[in-house]
Amino acid sequence: MLVINIYYTGKDGSARKFAEEMTESGTVELVRKEEGNFGYTYFFPKDDPEDVLLVDKWKNRAALDRHHKSPMMETISKLRQKYHLSMRVEQYFETDGKSVGDFEEVIRTRTAVRKFSDKPVSDEMIKRILEAGRYAPTAKNMQPQEIYVLKSKEALKKIDKATPCRYNAPICLLVCADKDKTWKNGDYSTYEMDACIVATHMMLEATNLGVDNIWIKYFDESVVRKEFNLPESVYPVCLLPLGYRAEEYAGNPLHNKRKALAEYVHFV
Ligand SMILES: Cc1cc2nc3c(=O)[nH]c(=O)nc-3n(C[C@H](O)[C@H](O)[C@H](O)COP(=O)(O)O)c2cc1C
Repeated sequence: MLVINIYYTGKDGSARKFAEEMTESGTVELVRKEEGNFGYTYFFPKDDPEDVLLVDKWKNRAALDRHHKSPMMETISKLRQKYHLSMRVEQYFETDGKSVGDFEEVIRTRTAVRKFSDKPVSDEMIKRILEAGRYAPTAKNMQPQEIYVLKSKEALKKIDKATPCRYNAPICLLVCADKDKTWKNGDYSTYEMDACIVATHMMLEATNLGVDNIWIKYFDESVVRKEFNLPESVYPVCLLPLGYRAEEYAGNPLHNKRKALAEYVHFV
């Protein structure tokens, strides 16, 4: 998906009048109906009455190119001239998968993928996924996580000795936690909980970027320890295989089997 943020700036509220006319003339509605449009929404910054932000989302570059050649573009540029607006494109990014972008859609579409294609995951995507983990909360902000990025043939071979659940993913994140770097309360400590939150952040960011994933706990801890020379205090919490689902992957039948809220939510 392509996401483009466009700031329109004018004088005496002209940018907002432009957005209003775009809406009232039906142009916004027409753009939204264009094939491959995933969103076309104006936002008004609270502290700057002269700015209007348009968040523009397209399925892919072909859809955006079609839009640029559509009759709507002429209307938009005429209106821009009418209101004497300047334009600034602040952000433009492209994700290399089937990104969904919207958080609620991300949490609904994330699913356990058990058959990956050979398509590699770019370093840029891995960096963004790892970054998402950095923002995870941890008890007393101790950040006890230790993450091993398994990408080389040797590393993947090693993890395959510990689990049958890599499912051909071209890259795996082995998420560990250091018991010596965690928050403790008597005998209890939060290292596993902290690492799970970090892993959850990364998993959801992966889905957000269109990178398929699965959470794996079924691995032989002692084999993982030995193959990756984990220090005694470092506990392997989970494995996140990442990649792109194979064409023939049929989906996880359990994904849509969720309890009703009434079965486990207790309003007291
Ligand atoms: C803590 C945890 C451990 C899991 N371990 C494995 C595993 O070892 N092997 C596997 O194939 N799937 C594993 N899964 C995936 C779950 O089976 C899957 O998430 C669940 O069926 C719900 O389906 P969904 O993720 O498609 O919504 C694990 C998931 C979680 C959260």
